[in-house]
Amino acid sequence: MKYYLLAAFAAVLLFPAFVPPTDLTEEALGEKLFFDPILSEDRSISCASCHIPAFGFADTSAVSKGVGGRLGRRNTQGITNMTSRSHFFFDGRAGSLEQQVLMPIQDTVEMRLPLEEAVRRLRSDKYYAGAFKKVYGQKPDAGKLAAALAAYVRTLETGDSPFDRWARGKANPMSEAAVRGRRVFMDKGKCFDCHFSPDFTGDEFRNIGLFTGSGTLNDVGRFALTRDSADLGKFKTPGLRNVAVTAPYMHNGMFKTLEEVIDYYDQPDQFVKTSINRDSLLRQPLGLSAAEKADLKAFLEALTDDRFVQ
Ligand code: HEC
Ligand code: HEC
Repeated sequence: MKYYLLAAFAAVLLFPAFVPPTDLTEEALGEKLFFDPILSEDRSISCASCHIPAFGFADTSAVSKGVGGRLGRRNTQGITNMTSRSHFFFDGRAGSLEQQVLMPIQDTVEMRLPLEEAVRRLRSDKYYAGAFKKVYGQKPDAGKLAAALAAYVRTLETGDSPFDRWARGKANPMSEAAVRGRRVFMDKGKCFDCHFSPDFTGDEFRNIGLFTGSGTLNDVGRFALTRDSADLGKFKTPGLRNVAVTAPYMHNGMFKTLEEVIDYYDQPDQFVKTSINRDSLLRQPLGLSAAEKADLKAFLEALTDDRFVQ
């Protein structure tokens, strides 16, 4: 018996990484999993490979690389402020965060790991076996893996941007340009018609005109799920918190800068003439002046919570 105790003690000293801390929380377990390539086929890709913390948990390329350098189909979304969302992915194919977080693991382009294999790996890993026991009182399984990852993603809430300080009347609020830009966002720019609520999304599926049915603009979006022609080219309206650090933009990453995004909304026809089903809000050019565009950009930049980009 004594020897076992001694051996256990030695293990703690020699391999502290195997021993979960006694105060381990569900969120901290989820965080470790989020950054751990153990959840990908060749142990090379973690959630954080695509959802990079310094970029609002988005990626800097138009589409991200999964295992073996396979290229995805869509731009990696920033995943801050997910708690209040009702649908996940650009087409809304996941209805809860618990459902969503297991999908990239099994996706053949992204992490390419069958769920049973993911669970098997976690069960045979000393650290995770102990950690799941500590947090959930049981062995790792798919449900608890989803619970831990979702719990971590829910901690990525941001609410201390210059805009928030301005709205609360606190010190270091947003610039004068951003205050003017907010008016453009609400009124002339019509942005608020779709990007409303505290996270600047109405959680609706809308078509801003990036579907022509051909070339790089052939992603049918929400239609893939509903098969309703009214949904052709509709995508989930993204929240705009931290948007200044999540370039490139849109489901296909076609715009590299916020200037390009604003120029697009100002005159969509200059970019895409033959769009199908474009929302009526975007049928007329906005007619924004150079100053209004600059102010609008300053407002979008004031939505960045600096705690999340370091
Ligand atoms: C290879 C890159 C890649 C990896 C790895 C990856 N993701 Fe993603 N993630 C994406 C892309 C691309 C999308 C958007 C896909 C779409 O809409 O079809 C996305 C979407 C999401 C969303 C939905 C965001 C929204 O606004 O609806 C969440 C949440 C998310 N990922 C979490 C995770 C978690 C958790 C992991 C690890 C288990 C992970 N991702 C691994 C690329 C990746
Ligand atoms: C008709 C609804 C609608 C209006 C009006 C609208 N948006 Fe959007 N916005 C969307 C949708 C839907 C997307 C996602 C489209 C896609 O990915 O193809 C989007 C995407 C964006 C993105 C890219 C976000 C990212 O992470 O890729 C930015 C930035 C943005 N909008 C800003 C604005 C601004 C600024 C205005 C006003 C000038 C505006 N939007 C007006 C619905 C709208």
